[in-house]
Amino acid sequence: MLNDAPPSTLLRQGLIVDGSGRPGVVGDLLMAGDRLLAVGQVDAALLAAQPALHEIDCSGRVIAPGFIDVHTHDDAAVLDSPDMCPKLSQGVTTVIVGNCGISLVPVLSDDPPGLLKLLGPHQFRHRRMADYAEAVAQACPGVNVAALVGHSALRIRHLADLDRPALASEIEAMQADLKDAMDAGAIGLSSGVFYREAHAADLAELVAVATVAAREGGVYATHIRDELDAILPALQEAATTARQAGLPLVLSHHKCAGPANWGRTRETLPLLEALAREQELGLDVYPYTAGSTVLRTDLVDGIIDILITGSVPHPEMAGRHLADIAREWGVSQQAACERLMPGGACYFQMRQDDVDRVVTHPLSMIGSDGLPHDERPHPRLWGAFPRVLAYYWREHAMLGLEQAVHKMSGLSARRFRLDGRGELVAQAHADVVVFDPQRVRDLATFEDPVRFSEGIEQVWVNGVLSYVGGEGRVRARAGRFLKRRTHLHSQHSETV
Ligand code: ZN
Ligand code: CU
Repeated sequence: MLNDAPPSTLLRQGLIVDGSGRPGVVGDLLMAGDRLLAVGQVDAALLAAQPALHEIDCSGRVIAPGFIDVHTHDDAAVLDSPDMCPKLSQGVTTVIVGNCGISLVPVLSDDPPGLLKLLGPHQFRHRRMADYAEAVAQACPGVNVAALVGHSALRIRHLADLDRPALASEIEAMQADLKDAMDAGAIGLSSGVFYREAHAADLAELVAVATVAAREGGVYATHIRDELDAILPALQEAATTARQAGLPLVLSHHKCAGPANWGRTRETLPLLEALAREQELGLDVYPYTAGSTVLRTDLVDGIIDILITGSVPHPEMAGRHLADIAREWGVSQQAACERLMPGGACYFQMRQDDVDRVVTHPLSMIGSDGLPHDERPHPRLWGAFPRVLAYYWREHAMLGLEQAVHKMSGLSARRFRLDGRGELVAQAHADVVVFDPQRVRDLATFEDPVRFSEGIEQVWVNGVLSYVGGEGRVRARAGRFLKRRTHLHSQHSETV
């Protein structure tokens, strides 16, 4: 697939929802090369100056910035499956990789340990972010890629023993790797202190490492220590880490998990609002009541439904419920889980009203947290973005259209400091999606998770028409590795 210099494209008479959250207006959009030339009203002289013009009638359609998936584990997928069909087909034009403390960089391994398996086994061969950036450029994936460095990956590389806090010398080694990665364009640090690989990290270690990202203008995204009973202290720990290190905080996939905690977003969201008055803070969320991660016995409570997404010793069990498997084997669910490990599952651990409160909260943006290497992935991998439009805007009116788009583009770009993306303004990069507001919806379900969404009609990445709905494939790949901006404009955090 070659990226020919595209002709100028004029999208005519669509409802332009520009990603800022401002009301949409009917108008035209002109793009040329990899940039937007004019948005709203396009002047005749500018049109006449275009050597070749491709016109598309967008009446009855919405023209929006390409969506930004702020929470992904697509680190290896952008190299191994560069079409990135699950994302482009949702209107996503940029993914942020390296979440939850796990990233390819700086681990070198043919058999990645523990949680790193989430990224698939084949791509742990990028010692430095510069190598990874080069690999992305070579692969030329369908979507743009911005990369966080995972604290757990740094630990795996540099700690002799993961079950204690890092020693001073190990902290220095992690800092040096992170600095090197930031210099090569990484956008920040992620952590996953929930997981064994980083569970022993204390505040001092986290602050010491995050300080390096802070100095370089990066952000700190974290899968907090506890999303169950101890969620409030876990949120406080994340906020303290970011405040002491001096950088913006993103709380990953905010949720209240486990039946004992259902309803507690009534406590967590006010806490986050209060914190956001003191420090720059955002959160991401996926629009489903099930989470998905590796198989873990501590998440098996005998109450919630658990759907197996893959199992190394028992691949035939993908798509089946843990309770059924346990019954068939005549063992407890915990014992069945142990037999299925290593593997993955969807955990139906949230309640709808909590998810709704988070998705509709002004601080939240959308991140799929999709796991591209699972046998039968959680449907969020293929459906999260159209689902926000269908479920939260059109069917339930819990979000305005402009708000929904803002949470998937403008807000996301601002939080992660992606320059020139996320809003439709002249001179921005030409990442654009056109969708049919009456038809847009996700079709991926837990039973049938690999399905194209409906109503996403055209997607441009850096000015290249990359996906056309109904064709069932990706047309072109024009994604880039997005480097962190080098000069910082001082940006005051907005509060709720
Ligand atoms: Zn996570
Ligand atoms: Cu994640």
